[in-house]
Amino acid sequence: MHANNIISFSRLPTDQSWLRHCGGGMDRMVVVEPNPRKGLTSKVIDFVEKLIVEFTYDSSRPGRHQYYLSGNFAPVTDEIPPTTDLFVKGHLPDCLNGEFVMVGSNPKFTPVPGYHWFDGDGMVHGLRIKDGKATYVSRYVKTSRLKQEEYFGGAKFMKIGDLKGLFGLLMVSMQLLREKLKVLDVSYGTGTDVLKVLDDGDLQTLGMLDYDKRLTHSFTAHPKVDPFTGEMFTFGYSHTPPYITYRVISEDGFLQDPVPITISEPIIMHDFAISENYAIFMDLPLCFRPKEMVKENKLIFTFDAMRKARFGVLPRYAKDDLLIRWFELPNCFIFHNANAWEEEDEVVLVTCRLENPDLDMVSGSVKEKLENMRFNMKTGLASQKKLSVPAVDFPRVNESYTGRKSAVHVIDAKTMSADPVAVVEVPHRVPYGFHAFFVTEVVSQPLLLV
Ligand SMILES: [Fe+2]
Repeated sequence: MHANNIISFSRLPTDQSWLRHCGGGMDRMVVVEPNPRKGLTSKVIDFVEKLIVEFTYDSSRPGRHQYYLSGNFAPVTDEIPPTTDLFVKGHLPDCLNGEFVMVGSNPKFTPVPGYHWFDGDGMVHGLRIKDGKATYVSRYVKTSRLKQEEYFGGAKFMKIGDLKGLFGLLMVSMQLLREKLKVLDVSYGTGTDVLKVLDDGDLQTLGMLDYDKRLTHSFTAHPKVDPFTGEMFTFGYSHTPPYITYRVISEDGFLQDPVPITISEPIIMHDFAISENYAIFMDLPLCFRPKEMVKENKLIFTFDAMRKARFGVLPRYAKDDLLIRWFELPNCFIFHNANAWEEEDEVVLVTCRLENPDLDMVSGSVKEKLENMRFNMKTGLASQKKLSVPAVDFPRVNESYTGRKSAVHVIDAKTMSADPVAVVEVPHRVPYGFHAFFVTEVVSQPLLLV
């Protein structure tokens, strides 16, 4: 999943729109203080879990969990405080002031026992560049889940890597039991937190945003800020109805009422897109099917090759989904979109399309291809065209053009230049990660990371 042979250009908006969406900043930040409970109940559940693992977990199965814990997937054990004056071969341009940050999966505690790459605690690696000097730092995102596992001194939360076969069902039961008996506290969720880049390059978890308790569902890692209106567009997905909930956040940080999007069954929807007038949703058949998990010994999310890919185009200020137009294309899965815009009667989506996905086989080698999809609002027809021969994912565009047409430059990093301007020696191994971007110094404000 690494965009290691292709890069797209990126530039963060230099206004304060992200900060405004944090509700004006610190004052509306919810401090994450979960209240888990040790004691007899917790110990009894741990014991039952141990028996389940011993009697129903097939450790000889060709599982992927060891794969995701070894090589350069393996987590690094320690946070690294800001390490200054790194050796720089070459010259870092004086005008380049900011921090390059990348979030990766870095489990702090040994999993019990299943593990998937998407399960790890979030660790952010930062390379601060200022006045030609470089500083490296790595910090955990201090989520409610991490804080509780630190309190117990071990892994306690259910993982995607557990969710296979009958064993998966039993592990879901363990999680529900821990929640019901208040061993674990899920009132702060388990994932997203807001981070701040400090002056010395250090990364601090500030807390969580619930928009004055108006946000009660999951929140995508890929919200979109319209560079012209300053609004944020976002969604969450769930395994219970409504499976997709769309939200608009006004420029001053007010979370508008939820708009449920009707689809036939729960799926993974990792990203979406906006254009000037529309929000574009992706109903792709990587489905949440607990019955198949148990009956057919599959992962809980399975790809249904018989189902088409569906793309829903909704006027972006709609109060319900009555006006959504659905378009069908050959089946596929998509983690990330690059951008979308409108051309006369058509909505255009540039995206990273993956054929025959298998969540159990997601790895560091990219298989996604950049494709151009077109949805004709007049005729109701859709088309797709491959844009890249090499694989592409984790695309970034100039965010001043989010939802608008712009020239997309795809550059082969291998031939871009034989001589880098500068090479910074990082004093620590950085495991394979997910998303990265450069925070310019003027935008050193809270970041939203998953
Ligand atoms: Fe993502």
